[in-house]
Amino acid sequence: MTDLALPKFPADFAWGVATAAYQIEGAVAEDGRGDSVWDTFCRRPGAIRDGHTGDVAVDHYHRWPEDLALMAELGVNAYRFSVAWPRIQPAGSGAANQAGLDFYDRLTDALLAAGITPMPTLFHWDLPQPLEDEGGWLNRDTASRFAEYAALAAQRLADRIELWITLNEPFVVTTFGYGLGIHAPGKALLLDALPTAHHQLLGHGLATAALRASGAGQVAITNNYSPAWPASDSQPDQAATAAYDALHNRLFTDPVLHASYPDLSAFGVREIAGVRDGDLAVIAAPIDALGVNYYNPTRLSALPDSELPFQLEPIPGYPVTAFGWPVVPAGLTEILTTLRDRYGELLPPIYITENGCSLEDAQAADGSVDDDRRIGYLDGHIRAVADAMAAGVDVRGYLTWTLMDNFEWGEGYHQRFGLVHVDFGSQRRTAKKSFGWYRDLIAAQRG
Ligand code: FCB
Repeated sequence: MTDLALPKFPADFAWGVATAAYQIEGAVAEDGRGDSVWDTFCRRPGAIRDGHTGDVAVDHYHRWPEDLALMAELGVNAYRFSVAWPRIQPAGSGAANQAGLDFYDRLTDALLAAGITPMPTLFHWDLPQPLEDEGGWLNRDTASRFAEYAALAAQRLADRIELWITLNEPFVVTTFGYGLGIHAPGKALLLDALPTAHHQLLGHGLATAALRASGAGQVAITNNYSPAWPASDSQPDQAATAAYDALHNRLFTDPVLHASYPDLSAFGVREIAGVRDGDLAVIAAPIDALGVNYYNPTRLSALPDSELPFQLEPIPGYPVTAFGWPVVPAGLTEILTTLRDRYGELLPPIYITENGCSLEDAQAADGSVDDDRRIGYLDGHIRAVADAMAAGVDVRGYLTWTLMDNFEWGEGYHQRFGLVHVDFGSQRRTAKKSFGWYRDLIAAQRG
């Protein structure tokens, strides 16, 4: 599968890696950082596998020069990281904490000096705890606070940032964080979590305006997408699949691209509580790019007499990652062509802002990690991107998840997604075989 040469991508295609603040930085009490909902959630007994926390993570806050050197060696020309809101506004509002901004300022300058385009995400799930104490994303005011924070970040960095990403995967915050309670802030409200979708989207719209007013260049939002496949061709399974598709693939995209919410009547929802006149116009402010995160498809069957009208079914016949996620590269082509067919001219250029796999990457006695399966995963998915581009989808970049093993949310340090192995005790970084493969791929694309 990896023997055939990859097609040639455009010369200005972005080849990168992605990370997120809480998963890598550690240093949770340094330089004035405040608590985030993840600091709180990690202390809840039983919330995170084996009681792991992001207190130290992979110590990137101190070791970032070493991590940047790894990226330079890899040859990437783009790096997606996230800015920790609680470093910039420890209380979630008010003046900026300059020491927090200094960290991202230094990182930005060093990336540019290394020829790597910084691509910051403003919210990758680490909401300041004081805002959660006021209701978090259930509270409309959080949307305005987010725009205020975006402006503070832009005032410091906008002169050097080409592309800003507002939110990462608001679907996961709404469903896992507020709907099911398996992510921070750990609320299990089921459909009563829907206002958090609207408030995040409103935050995206208000932040987009604030970024533009602060001189920002391009603005994007990153959503995760998953082809929804019916478990059978029965009418109930097809309806369950359409319902899931609306929730996962449309709820956070329709409002942004065409100023309306998808039909949620399958959930008994006529309209989302809290939507006011004018909100959808704010949310639908033009964006310059769409970030697409893709890991796997979802297969569904009907679940009658339940608040959620579907249940998730296994997808047999594919290899699975350490997380148990099926490896289906064609699903990435499917989601990209579906987006194009669904939104047509309204669809902006796309960046694949995350794609990768967790494996049980054991180190051999000499320290090496032969992660051939990751190479196969990446190869297959990059080909899937090429297929979508050949079918006319405008994709501008591919950023793999992730540079180095890190804190994987509810799974703690148990899922390794990195191109670089990290020994979590010593913090020693060791390039895996896939690192060399990706380096060679990027070099060949440039050559
Ligand atoms: C995505 C998250 C990212 C990482 C990957 C595996 O949902 O955005 O932080 O955890 O999954």
